[in-house]
Parts: sequence; C-alpha cells; structure tokens
Amino acid sequence: MDSEEDDKQKLQKMIKYREMTIDDLGKVFHLGEKVFKVQKAPNSYRTWDEYDVIEFFQNDLEFCIIAEFKNDIIGFVLGTTVSKNNSAWKYGHLVWLGVHPDFQRMGVAEKLFLKFKTLMLKDGVRMLIVDTDAENLAALHFFRKHGFGNPQQHIYLTMNIDNERNRLKKKENGKNH
Ligand SMILES: CC(C)(COP(=O)(O)OP(=O)(O)OC[C@H]1O[C@@H](n2cnc3c(N)ncnc32)[C@H](O)[C@@H]1OP(=O)(O)O)[C@@H](O)C(=O)NCCC(=O)NCCS
Repeated sequence: MDSEEDDKQKLQKMIKYREMTIDDLGKVFHLGEKVFKVQKAPNSYRTWDEYDVIEFFQNDLEFCIIAEFKNDIIGFVLGTTVSKNNSAWKYGHLVWLGVHPDFQRMGVAEKLFLKFKTLMLKDGVRMLIVDTDAENLAALHFFRKHGFGNPQQHIYLTMNIDNERNRLKKKENGKNH
C-alpha cells in the first residue's frame, strides 16, 4: 500500500460519527454555508439558513448525524420522514448532505448516508427520497452510486410579487393617514 493511501486510511479512522447535539448547531450551519454556496442551490427549492438547522434539531434530531475530525465538524446529514395519507408507505427524505471540501472523496458522505439509511430502516421507512439540482454532478454520482434511480422531473416556477406588496403597503398607509 502506498503512503498516500496509508495516510488516507489513518485519517478516515480518526473521523467519528454521532448524533448532532445543541452545541453543534453553529458549526453545522457554518459548514453548510461553505459547502452549499459552491452550487448555489444544491436542491433548488430550499435555501440553507440557520432556521433550517434549528428546525431539524427540534423535529428530527434522530435523523441528524455529524462527522467529526478532532473538534471540527466536517460533514453532516439532515433528514426527516414523511407519511402520506393515502399510502401505507413511510418515506425518508434526505434533505441536506454536506462534507467539508478538504475531506471530500474519502467516503465521509458514504458513512453518513449508510448510518442515515440504517436509522430510516429502523424507523419503518420503505422508500428514500433525495432531490438535488440537475447540474450537481457530485451529488448525482453519489446518489446513483448508492442505489438511487428513477429520477422524476419537477419544474419550479417563480413569480415576483414584490411590486404588488409595495402597492398594498402604500394603500394601507394611505388608509391610516
Ligand atoms: C456530494 C458530497 C456530499 C459527496 O461527499 P463525499 O464525502 O466526497 O462523498 P464520498 O467520498 O462518500 O463518495 C464519493 C462518491 O461520490 C461521487 N462523487 C463525489 N464527488 C464527486 C465529484 N466531484 N464528481 C463526481 N462524482 C463525485 C462519486 O460517485 C464518488 O465515488 P468514487 O470516489 O468511487 O468515484 C459532497 O461533494 C458535498 O458536500 N457536496 C456539496 C453539497 C451537496 O451538493 N450535497 C448534496 C445535496 S444536499
């Protein structure tokens, strides 16, 4: 084995995986700012902000796992489960998966994903869902490598209603004077 591979394996062994705690929230948020800014919207309809991290912490803590190297958080996965009224199936939604650029291509996301999948299986989930931007090739390769397929296309449309909002405000201000 060459020494580069040897170093990589040593590093991999030093990475620990565990459930997120309240003390991790800030670090996870800042790591997300770093990894999700490269592709502006890794999944097109959500934006990464501190409220998102807090929401997962409050509602889905059991599906929030972090990867830690020394005292730094270098990766995380955040997800949730969804049960639909008209379906007996329980779905698991992997919403955010991110790995610090210095630690990418070392199997960190794979470890996070496998742990996430185990938790989902234990929770009775039968189908996993991920979504990502069509141009996010790293993520697409990653998810395909781990068995995701059958892509469904969605189109997100936007409508700027800011002018209407301003008109409404002016109207209301006029009423109050
Ligand atoms: C996608 C991401 C989580 C992968 O993390 P990682 O720790 O590097 O992934 P792993 O090392 O566990 O897996 C590597 C596999 O993922 C795929 N992959 C990862 N980066 C890739 C890249 N830049 N180009 C092509 N394939 C890539 C490949 O299939 C690769 O397998 P290989 O090394 O045998 O070719 C990471 O690139 C990332 O954080 N991206 C930014 C955030 C993001 O887009 N998240 C996903 C949507 S929420």
